[in-house]
Amino acid sequence: SQYQKGVKHLCENGVNKVPKKYILPASDRPRMNYDGKLNVRKQNLKLPVIDFSELQGANRPQVLKSLANACEQYGFFQLVNHGIPSDVISSMIDVSTRFFELPFEERAKYMSSDMHAPVRYGTSFNQNKDTVFCWRDFLKLMCHPPSDVLPHWPSSPGDLRKLAATYSKETKNLFLMVMEAILESLGLVGTTENKTKEEDILKDFQDGSQLMVVNCYPPCPEPNLTLGMPPHSDYGFLTLLLQDEVEGLQIQFQEKWVTVQPIANSFVVNVGDHLEIFSNGKYKSVLHRVSVNSKKSRTSVASLHTLPFKCTVRPSPKLIDEENPRRYKDTNFATFLEYISSCEPKRKNFLDSRK
Ligand code: SIN
Ligand code: FE2
Repeated sequence: SQYQKGVKHLCENGVNKVPKKYILPASDRPRMNYDGKLNVRKQNLKLPVIDFSELQGANRPQVLKSLANACEQYGFFQLVNHGIPSDVISSMIDVSTRFFELPFEERAKYMSSDMHAPVRYGTSFNQNKDTVFCWRDFLKLMCHPPSDVLPHWPSSPGDLRKLAATYSKETKNLFLMVMEAILESLGLVGTTENKTKEEDILKDFQDGSQLMVVNCYPPCPEPNLTLGMPPHSDYGFLTLLLQDEVEGLQIQFQEKWVTVQPIANSFVVNVGDHLEIFSNGKYKSVLHRVSVNSKKSRTSVASLHTLPFKCTVRPSPKLIDEENPRRYKDTNFATFLEYISSCEPKRKNFLDSRK
């Protein structure tokens, strides 16, 4: 149908009402709380801020405590002073915007329903399964191993490959450093006794899978009827989210949907399902969604990181004892891909491996 061509295409042809295809049942609309109560006033949330540069200095122990607290209480934090040059960030947002401004036929070359494709352009959340569509178009880029996947990335705009490759390399390095701090915050690195086994996982992460999701949310004539993304959790260990200055990300916090205030030049980092499993439930993979607005187009770039494709994810043995029995079964990324291609979007909270 025409909706398979995406919301950017729809908007280019002029819409002043949200088509039926995008209208959510009343209980799932953005003004409703998930408890069924109407959210009268929009609630904004200041996420815990982690200063990456502080993590590298004498204050590391205190910052690790804040990091642990953020991962337990919110499942989310904002990362500032992370060291990725601001021009790498602004170029990534800029080239993403230019990609979605290409003629539809050019973007359509990258459409694919193959979950394993190195490049995949599409719309909604899962356009093959969704009954109600989301107000989002996306470009998904597999990033690992670079030499295999980069040649498949879009050749237009002409500078996309180069800019996205630089950006993905920088975010991978940052992920590795943040992941090391996360392991330390869980008490899994640093002591000689623990060193060998748990630090091996850092080597696995170097060869881990990385997926970049570039999102485009065009202005929506009736933003209270639809969502840019339905409630879901992310599958991996950590997601590093870059958003432009337009707000839209909402997370579940204390039984409410709250809007995350964008901070320029920062990343919103969140715990994914695999880290929840690895931490045996200590760190939380929290539901989030995206609301849209009638005035501004919004661009975001999510960088999702986890272990190599077939590598087993299981609770760390060091975090299991009599008081904290094992709470999750084994899983891996390949299982997740099978799982999502076979279910409805609302069930995307992938903790079906919960014991
Ligand atoms: C996501 O949940 O991966 C995207 C969030 C966003 O666009 O802010
Ligand atoms: Fe997400």
